[in-house]
Amino acid sequence: MQKMTVAEARQPDAAGKSARLQGWIRTRRDSKGGFSFLEINDGSSMGNIQVIAEAALANYETEIKHLSAGCSVTIEGEVKASPAKGQATEVQAAKVEVHGWADPETYPLQKKRHSFEFLRTLAHLRPRTNTFGAIARVRNCISRSIHAFFQEENFLYVHAPIITASDCEGAGEMFKVTTLDLAGVPKLNSAVDYTQDFFDRPAFLTVSGQLEAEIFACALGKVYTFGPTFRAENSNTSRHLAEFWMVEPEMAFFELTDNMDLAERFLKRIFSDVLSQCPEDMQFFNAQIQPGVLETLETVVANDFVRLSYTEAVEVLTRSGAKFEFPVAWGHDLQAEHERYLTGQHFKKPVILFDYPRTIKPFYMRVNDDGRTVRAMDVLVPGVGEIIGGSQREERLDVMQERMREQKLDPETYWWYLDLRRYGTVPHSGFGLGLERAVQFVTGMANIRDVIPFPRVPGSADF
Ligand code: 4AD
Ligand code: MG
Repeated sequence: MQKMTVAEARQPDAAGKSARLQGWIRTRRDSKGGFSFLEINDGSSMGNIQVIAEAALANYETEIKHLSAGCSVTIEGEVKASPAKGQATEVQAAKVEVHGWADPETYPLQKKRHSFEFLRTLAHLRPRTNTFGAIARVRNCISRSIHAFFQEENFLYVHAPIITASDCEGAGEMFKVTTLDLAGVPKLNSAVDYTQDFFDRPAFLTVSGQLEAEIFACALGKVYTFGPTFRAENSNTSRHLAEFWMVEPEMAFFELTDNMDLAERFLKRIFSDVLSQCPEDMQFFNAQIQPGVLETLETVVANDFVRLSYTEAVEVLTRSGAKFEFPVAWGHDLQAEHERYLTGQHFKKPVILFDYPRTIKPFYMRVNDDGRTVRAMDVLVPGVGEIIGGSQREERLDVMQERMREQKLDPETYWWYLDLRRYGTVPHSGFGLGLERAVQFVTGMANIRDVIPFPRVPGSADF
């Protein structure tokens, strides 16, 4: 007898095979004819397989007739072509073995639809629902696609450290890593004495693997990092997590336009892989979560992104006559509402904004000849807003040093980063894609807390 997944057993060509299936009961329905229908899911696909359990089975009265949602079972039987509509096959059970019961009086996942807020309190059970199963499969597909894309393009996968001493984004949003006793922190001249701490100095969880990726790009050409990053920003929005996953390619001898071209090809590849590899899950998101999401993805894959300078974007926004909560003015960062207007309402397609004011962007971005702007780029998509942030990097030592002074950064801390400009410096570029924002865009899920298995946000690190 062959072990088979539900996904395999649902294929028409499985008919006629005998199979062993293992999973969880979604529903049980008893027929007047004296047998029962069991719907089984094992996570291999959105759809369930229907199992027919006849009254003649030895444990029919004692066990099968007591099965309910959440019980775990092994089914042995024959896969048959199904006469019922909407399914190619069904399984005629020869044996039903129960592994674990799930008391219907207390099992929280009942057949009715639960709110996503409620399901967040059940992060240990929500993967058993249709929505969260589909999200897990799509997230996996995107992760695989990310590696496939970069590997096929001969990028090296580099592992950036999670514990670091440098604040890449200079935004002061880092979590501290320490073994000091917080109840009695050692002091030296009324400041914390970090020489007594584990690393002999202040250390943090990384906000980005970029600086380390630059080291490898400046030796090996094209590299990428893909790992968890952490930001202690106290923002309770549907787009922010305190722990999220970021993929960061970094390329030597790439200028900003090369960077934009790569980002656009990369996103299109991920989206088209999801369309071709997760059709059933995408049908579900299109029908149940965000009507039109399939068409949006297909159009995005088939058309060019808009490319617009920050200055032009400010003009578009000013001329729009739209009412914004935050005013638009050159020199101010664009707010989520502005980004959503540009990409969702005005252009109705992804937009790459570039050449931002130097005052609102980190020290590492290359200063343009106008002296006022830097070679930054943000990719915005409808609904979500910013999904990618990147730039061409400043490769000139003197300009970099000036920028660090401007932003009150200590060059001592970044001595190795400056060395990259001191020895064999090259033009180079890179960007960071927030994995969860990508999953949000693809699935149409409204809240970022629902596209990561275990969300970490201000006030909550459960599970
Ligand atoms: O724009 P960000 O801050 O760029 C960087 O960190 C660069 N060092 C990347 C690089 O050039 N290598 O972040 C990049 C992306 C954002 O566009 C967004 O998609 C995501 O990371 N992101 C977040 N996602 C979830 N929660 C948060 N708090 C996020 N902050 C950024
Ligand atoms: Mg950004």
